Amino acid sequence: MSKTPDNSPANPSARHLTGVAPRSLALLTRGNPMLARRSDPVTDILSKEFQGFLDDLILSGEENMGVGIAAPQVGKNLRAFILAPKPSKRYPQAPSMDPTPIVNPVILGSFGPMEKDWEGCLSVPGFRGQVPRSHGVQVRFLDRSGTAHELTLKGFIARVFQHEFDHLEGILYPERMEKEERLLDLDEFFAETGIRVPR
Ligand code: NI
Repeated sequence: MSKTPDNSPANPSARHLTGVAPRSLALLTRGNPMLARRSDPVTDILSKEFQGFLDDLILSGEENMGVGIAAPQVGKNLRAFILAPKPSKRYPQAPSMDPTPIVNPVILGSFGPMEKDWEGCLSVPGFRGQVPRSHGVQVRFLDRSGTAHELTLKGFIARVFQHEFDHLEGILYPERMEKEERLLDLDEFFAETGIRVPR
């Protein structure tokens, strides 16, 4: 999802699992066809190559202060993303999580009302928009060791999960916005909300 102005570095113990220093990967932006493609399932989670890629993805999200980052955003059309929510001025209620890889996720169902809230995206730099999402989702995914999990997520983390899942389907958040809503640049966003987001 978007940059947060006031997050802190994540727990470094989550990294360096392969013994290779992670690399920061270049971000693709809206208009790149790789962002509009449906991504392929990960077939070899435990390979050194994929584990190293997860570390690179975590680092790339941290360097850009993302609360989430998906593999297609760095040019790999694989079904994997990182959840890394942090409390911020915008979302004081957000949980603080160490960066958590989510592999081959499935949204089993959704519940609760549709709720609109502001989203941004590292692939749509400099903008914010109001996006309707389900309040809650039931999800299944594999962690980086290949173990399956089923969770019920609500609120902010459910929103981030839905946003990142959309990246795997080739969908960017502006496509989820209602017709009467428009993207705001960061000056307009500040005028509307009083929240100053660093560029
Ligand atoms: Ni995004």
